[in-house]
Amino acid sequence: MIKNLGEKFSKSIGVDLGTSRTLIYIKGKGIVTNEPTVVALNNKTNQILAIGNEAEEMVGKTPSHINAIKPLTNGVISDFEVVEKMLRYFLDQAKGKNFFSRILDWPRLVIGIPTGGTEVEKRAVEDVARSAGAKEVYLVEEPVAAALGDRLSIKESKGILVVDVGGGTTEVAVISLGGIVVAKSLRVAGDKLNEDIIYYFKERFKLAIGEKTAEEIKIFIGSAIDLGSNQETKVRGRDLTRGLPKEIKVKEEEIREAITPSLMKIVDAIKGTIEITPPELLGDIMASGVILSGGTSLLRGFDKLVGDAVDLPVKIIEDPITAVIRGMGVILEDLDSWRDFLITLSREKPPF
Ligand SMILES: Nc1ncnc2c1ncn2[C@@H]1O[C@H](COP(=O)(O)OP(=O)(O)OP(=O)(O)O)[C@@H](O)[C@H]1O
Ligand SMILES: [Mg+2]
Repeated sequence: MIKNLGEKFSKSIGVDLGTSRTLIYIKGKGIVTNEPTVVALNNKTNQILAIGNEAEEMVGKTPSHINAIKPLTNGVISDFEVVEKMLRYFLDQAKGKNFFSRILDWPRLVIGIPTGGTEVEKRAVEDVARSAGAKEVYLVEEPVAAALGDRLSIKESKGILVVDVGGGTTEVAVISLGGIVVAKSLRVAGDKLNEDIIYYFKERFKLAIGEKTAEEIKIFIGSAIDLGSNQETKVRGRDLTRGLPKEIKVKEEEIREAITPSLMKIVDAIKGTIEITPPELLGDIMASGVILSGGTSLLRGFDKLVGDAVDLPVKIIEDPITAVIRGMGVILEDLDSWRDFLITLSREKPPF
C-alpha cells in the first residue's frame, strides 16, 4: 500500500534544458512546461523577479537595476546558480498544488546534454538536476532524444542522421544501435542568426535593433533560400547617426544575405559529419535522409537548403521544438529498457 502510494506520487521527469526554451515532461502526464530559458534578476539584491514567460517579456526593456538573463550559452550552463533556481521553480510548478505531490521530491530525472560537451559541462548539468531535487539523474544526448521524439527505432543497427538546430547549438549526429556513431556540435544556431541580423542592421542601415526585434524579423520574413515570396517588413529601432527613433523597410533577401554565412556553417557541419560516417551506415542514410529537429529547422526553406547541399531527402520532425522532450517522454515511459542507453556519470566516493 505504502509502496503503491509512493509510486503514485513519486514522479519521473524529463527536462530539455535548452538555450532558448526549457521543457518538462512528467511520466504519465506529458509535457507540463514549455517556457523561455530566461530569468529576471534584481542585480542589487540578486533576487529573482521573474522566470520564463514573464521574464522574457522584460528582455531589452529593463531598468538598470533589473537584468533579464539567459543562463545558458550555446547549450551550456553559464550561470549555475540561476539555472538551479530556475529549474527548482519549474519543477515546483510541475508538481502541481496537490499536498502529497508537493512534499515529494523527484526520484528520477532524465535531462538532455549536447553531444560535444566536456565532462565538466555534463557534470554541471547533473549537479544542477540534483540540487533542484532529483535523486537519480540520467543524461541523454539531445539528438538521440530527438530521434526518439520522431518515434524512430534507434536500437536497430541502422544509421539515422539527425540534425538538431536549436537556439544555441546545432547538433549533427549519426545514430545506430541506440548510440552516437559520429557527431559534430557547433555553436551556430538560432541565436547566432539573430546576432547576424542585429549586425546587418547596424552596418547596412545604421539602425540599432534589439534581440527580440531581430528574432521577430527572422521568424516573419527570414528564409534560407529564394522562395520567390519577396516579403518586406517595417522595422523600428534607433538611428545610430542621429540617436533618434527611426522606421525602415527591410526585404526578405536582405535578411537572407545577413544569415547566409551562418547557415553555410551549419550545412558544412552536416557535410563534414556525412564525410566521416562509416560507409555501411551511409546506405541507410541515403534511404532515410536527414531528420531535422529544433526550432531553427522551421526557418523557411532551411530543409531545401540542406537537401540540395547534401543531395539527400530531408524531413522536419513534426513539432520540432518539442522533439527532444517527447523523446525523453518515450524513455521515461519505459525507463528500464532504456537505462543502458543513457549516460550516468561515475561519482567519486567521499573520502569518509
Ligand atoms: N518559425 C521559425 N523560424 C525560424 N526560427 C525559429 C522559428 N521558430 C523558432 N525559431 C528559433 O528556434 C530557436 C529555438 O529552438 P529550440 O527551442 O529548439 O532551442 P533550444 O532547445 O532552446 O536551444 P539549444 O538546443 O540550442 O540549447 C530560437 O533561436 C528561435 O528563434
Ligand atoms: Mg534544444
